[in-house]
Amino acid sequence: MSETSHLGALDQGTSGTRFVIFDESGTPISEAFTTHQPRTTGADRIEYDPLKLWGCATDAIRRGLAGADLDASELRALGISSQRQTVLLWDAESGRPCTSALSWRDRRTTAQINALNGEERRLIRERTGLEPDAYFAAPKVKWLLDEGGDENQSTGRDEGATGRSRSAGEERDVAGPDDSRGDADLRERAARGEVLLGTVDSWLCYNLTGRHVTDVTNAAQTMLFDIRRREWDEDLLALFDVPRSALPTVRPSSDPEGFGVTDPDGVLNAEVPVTGVMGDQQAALLGRVACTESNAKVTYGTGNFFLQNTGTEPIEADGELLTTIWFQRAGEDPYYGLEGPVFATGAVLEWLRTVGLLEDAAELNQPGCTDRDEAVHFVPAFGGLGAPEWVPDARGGVFGLHRDTDRDDVLRAAVEAIGFGTRAVVESAEAATGVDQNCLLVDGGAIQNDEFAQCQADLIDRPLIRSDVTQTTALGACFAAGLAVGVWESMDDLEPCRPTGRTFSPSGDSAAVADSYRRWRDVVETVAQMT
Ligand code: G3P
Repeated sequence: MSETSHLGALDQGTSGTRFVIFDESGTPISEAFTTHQPRTTGADRIEYDPLKLWGCATDAIRRGLAGADLDASELRALGISSQRQTVLLWDAESGRPCTSALSWRDRRTTAQINALNGEERRLIRERTGLEPDAYFAAPKVKWLLDEGGDENQSTGRDEGATGRSRSAGEERDVAGPDDSRGDADLRERAARGEVLLGTVDSWLCYNLTGRHVTDVTNAAQTMLFDIRRREWDEDLLALFDVPRSALPTVRPSSDPEGFGVTDPDGVLNAEVPVTGVMGDQQAALLGRVACTESNAKVTYGTGNFFLQNTGTEPIEADGELLTTIWFQRAGEDPYYGLEGPVFATGAVLEWLRTVGLLEDAAELNQPGCTDRDEAVHFVPAFGGLGAPEWVPDARGGVFGLHRDTDRDDVLRAAVEAIGFGTRAVVESAEAATGVDQNCLLVDGGAIQNDEFAQCQADLIDRPLIRSDVTQTTALGACFAAGLAVGVWESMDDLEPCRPTGRTFSPSGDSAAVADSYRRWRDVVETVAQMT
């Protein structure tokens, strides 16, 4: 038995699941990553097989534990961070999924959102702090309950895809669909408590501990949750026709009793308390120890997610940004934040590869990313436009092409769009809070590349502090779990664990970049109006 405290963090993201074991200084000592790909069944339809998500989680956990040469019983606690808004239904008795998990990127419910009237939109904004959009879980839940299970649902057994039912200790197989289900009566069964719904964190908790729970940060991103009263909102449940009985219990993000204890006969082979659960973007803010009001971070992933700590009172941002909860400890007030999701950034690089314009990310590392053909602009509205425009139906494009336009012009315009999209949400937040972002915290995959990071600092025109710890989301889940079991007593105790960082300061011609930025915003505005 080691004398140092160790904590496990399970981070279930858009493209893979990671299990990291940290010591009490917040240093990762072991890490395992298992990729999973969503299934695309049409331009607007992106979904996951829930059993594959769980199978990836068990695979990452087993490999992560093996890498640390630790027995799971030596873990003080477990934290979970996960992609938000992705939602599914499962059978309360068998634990088998009744539906696919509709991804946060899925846009099939755009028509449902467009049909909302002014009063309904006002209600959503007032209660949830969110901008009505297909991004959130509520319209997806309505779609799942209306349309029933998916005929493409997995019928195979995933490696390690086992869990346990709600009754403690009872092992059972969750692989394969629930054949007894009738698609047509999902809503009735949900109303009777026979079918449960939840976001990915809930699904993982249910399979790890048997509890049907979520935390305030994930609930706050469903569009069904009143962020001031901190409870499911009956008016919104009625609006989206969601039975209250199917919803998980909402707990603070860091809670000693909140999320149950892992099954000793399950994947960990030990009883480990799950004491931290957070949405991944909120977890990344905690991972940066951004506990001071006005601290803000941008995580570069499939999308870019700006999130600013605004303290214990919610601040509104005129429909451009989201007001949300980013952390709560049991027995304390929640912390609120302003969030600006830019839907497609890493997805832009993925698209460039798919169409053969980019073979290797290193090709983006040409000097002078701001030295480009001024006429070419890229609008990455692959799934509508998120913050700050919020145009659910928008489609993207490359504009300003002429006969001399070459591949490098398009690549540079794409990189520029990633930086300018982020700059737009940063400027919205500065306008809403009156606080300048003079040192923006950045982390995530793409920004690990030095040239790309410098280019982003030039385009955003603000100093960026890049975390030396890559897995800030997992670190945030670790902090949430550790705070609940006394590894750290207070947020101040996290200070020595704050990841060190490297600063990238703007080095370009600020005025010229500002001109380009204004031209790019004009093109985005034109795209928004064309919709
Ligand atoms: O809101 C979606 C977000 O939580 C996904 O984050 O890092 O998995 O792309 P990521």
